[in-house]
Amino acid sequence: MYMASRFEVELVRILMLSKDFVSGSKIAQMLGVSRATVNRLIRELEDRGFVIESHPRLGYRIVVHNDLERVSGREIYRGFIVYRVEYIKECSSTQDIVDILAREGAPEGITVVCEKLSRGRGRLGRRWEAGEGGLWFTVLLKPPSIKSFQLLSLASGVAVAKSIKCLFNVDAKVKWPNDVLVNEKKVCGILIEARVEADKIHHIMLGIGVNVNNTLPVELQSNATTIKNIMGVEIPRTPLLKNIIREIDFAYKKLIDGNLMDIVNEWILYSSTIGKRVKAITFDEEIEGIAIGLDEDGALLIETKGKEVKRVVAGDVIHLKEQTYT
Ligand code: BTN
Repeated sequence: MYMASRFEVELVRILMLSKDFVSGSKIAQMLGVSRATVNRLIRELEDRGFVIESHPRLGYRIVVHNDLERVSGREIYRGFIVYRVEYIKECSSTQDIVDILAREGAPEGITVVCEKLSRGRGRLGRRWEAGEGGLWFTVLLKPPSIKSFQLLSLASGVAVAKSIKCLFNVDAKVKWPNDVLVNEKKVCGILIEARVEADKIHHIMLGIGVNVNNTLPVELQSNATTIKNIMGVEIPRTPLLKNIIREIDFAYKKLIDGNLMDIVNEWILYSSTIGKRVKAITFDEEIEGIAIGLDEDGALLIETKGKEVKRVVAGDVIHLKEQTYT
């Protein structure tokens, strides 16, 4: 993982907690480092995607509002492939926009970020609430084979959990297949859709919705939360977007290179599902038991009361009361 140093995490906290500018000398004193180190740390944060205003007399301040607008039209990350961001104020669903762009021949890596979705789509035909302040985006990918579909979905959840942990030091976990939870409440959902033509994959729309500074409708508040609620301050979204994309890029390369077990093992490391008693609801049955692992295709393995191991490929999982598998 591209880990932030202790000083970087602390500097992010200092700047986020302060509504105003903080002088370089005050930061140096709070961190116990030199002014030159403060300058270097500020540059490192900028490299991570933080937009930082600097003033010769007043010092530094993190820009939280409109930080996403500023990256629009720009390349946000260049790794295995190149990711360019297009920011729009409002649309029906970023999945639709990326689908249109792909049909018009857009290159993979194009990433559409939108402030507000009027018809946000969730998994299993559900609606996704996507009001202002969240991080709602879709990445266009063109993998050579459909085989990697499920693992890409799992890896994307891990990419988000890792990014939240690395930037804000918040313990985020994945719930099968790819929800991201903090304290068992959902902070992120992922939807992957594909256009397939005669057995050949044309393109994939990897849609990610992270609850950041948005206000959740009351009916969702018992099961979902936002990073702002967790941290108690407004969160800049560009560093989160950049970090997630970087992690997705690492995972995408692993998939293309065939390092599938790396993806599976990393998912297990970040999992909140493994070891729990769960109920899986698939299209034709409900399976209750202990989640004991993942197979190399990303299917969840559940051991039932009768000690039978069942394989769940698609569906929803509910975590039942806490119980560790022994
Ligand atoms: C889920 O049901 O958990 C998946 C939610 C996926 C939401 C994201 S927000 C960006 C992208 N555009 C959409 O319309 N949906 C996905």
